[in-house]
Amino acid sequence: MEVEKGFYKNQPRMVLFEITTRCNLACSYCTARQLVKEPKDLEIDKIRELRPALEAFEYIAFCGLGEALIHKNFYEILEIFKDKKIVIVTNGSVPIDYERLVRYDNIDAITFSVDGATEDSMKRVCSRYKFDVLLKNLEEGFKYGVNCAFNTTITEDTYKELSGIQDMIVKYGVKCFKLGLPLGKERWVSDHSKEIHDALYKIRDNMKELSVIYEDPFEVKCCCDNAPIAVVSKNGNLYPCCDYFCGRPLVGNLYHNSFMNIWNKASYEGFREGKFCSRCKQYHNVKEIADQEMA
Ligand SMILES: C[S@@+](CC[C@H](N)C(=O)[O-])C[C@H]1O[C@@H](n2cnc3c(N)ncnc32)[C@H](O)[C@@H]1O
Ligand code: SF4
Ligand code: SF4
Repeated sequence: MEVEKGFYKNQPRMVLFEITTRCNLACSYCTARQLVKEPKDLEIDKIRELRPALEAFEYIAFCGLGEALIHKNFYEILEIFKDKKIVIVTNGSVPIDYERLVRYDNIDAITFSVDGATEDSMKRVCSRYKFDVLLKNLEEGFKYGVNCAFNTTITEDTYKELSGIQDMIVKYGVKCFKLGLPLGKERWVSDHSKEIHDALYKIRDNMKELSVIYEDPFEVKCCCDNAPIAVVSKNGNLYPCCDYFCGRPLVGNLYHNSFMNIWNKASYEGFREGKFCSRCKQYHNVKEIADQEMA
């Protein structure tokens, strides 16, 4: 996915909606956990109240600084968004009730964050990980015909697991494999870029052969359909970009304004003009490493 000139001016079609900051795990590389002081669910009534302000988005992606599937009203929340396309990003370690999940026939995709191919390797990322639950979720996802993707963060522990993860992709009919680099570990990435690139070449070819959509870690991850992905945090705050570390501004609050009103305000202007993207540290850091090795 290339950043096209002027894509910043396109209105976002997808929003990452943080319905909880609670999590059942504590993954070793997770920056999200460090940012949360008092983990909480956003009450379902507050989610109902926010619903009209989210009308402009075609896709609602349940993803934030926690694990959406442990929200105590998760399946009732799906009803509130039954006319939207739903994306779920999950650690896979929470049993999924597929019968209730597919009730409104609007699940666009489930992205499972899979950083290891065995119980032991997943437990190295988080000792509380339930690998049997992940496997059952994947098996049932396949049976129910739900579009499943893997998101793997390449770290010291996980990048040696890539071959086993590819076997899981084949076994469970996973449609898309997204690789990411660990934020906050740029030094490690830089020091190991040769090994990482060597592993990537092979994966790219394998995925092509298997007709699995492949997202390279050096690709820009912050856009969907040539528009940036917005974020709504648990308190209704709206951010124009899904990258927590890019210095994105707060552009409004959806309890006080609709998305379209905020989009047309001066506070969004700087972002729409590309001011933040053109100097984005995340994007440029990554690009430098990619150019250096892939040229
Ligand atoms: C913050 S989690 C929230 C959703 C859910 N709890 C999960 O793990 O899938 C969303 C994604 O961020 C990734 N992530 C967490 N910390 C990261 C980091 N330091 N660098 C890159 N990705 C990270 C996770 O692997 C996961 O795929
Ligand atoms: S499951 Fe997701 S939010 Fe929870 S610690 Fe792991 S990466 Fe972070
Ligand atoms: S600021 Fe950076 S991470 Fe955010 S949308 Fe722009 S390029 Fe993407």
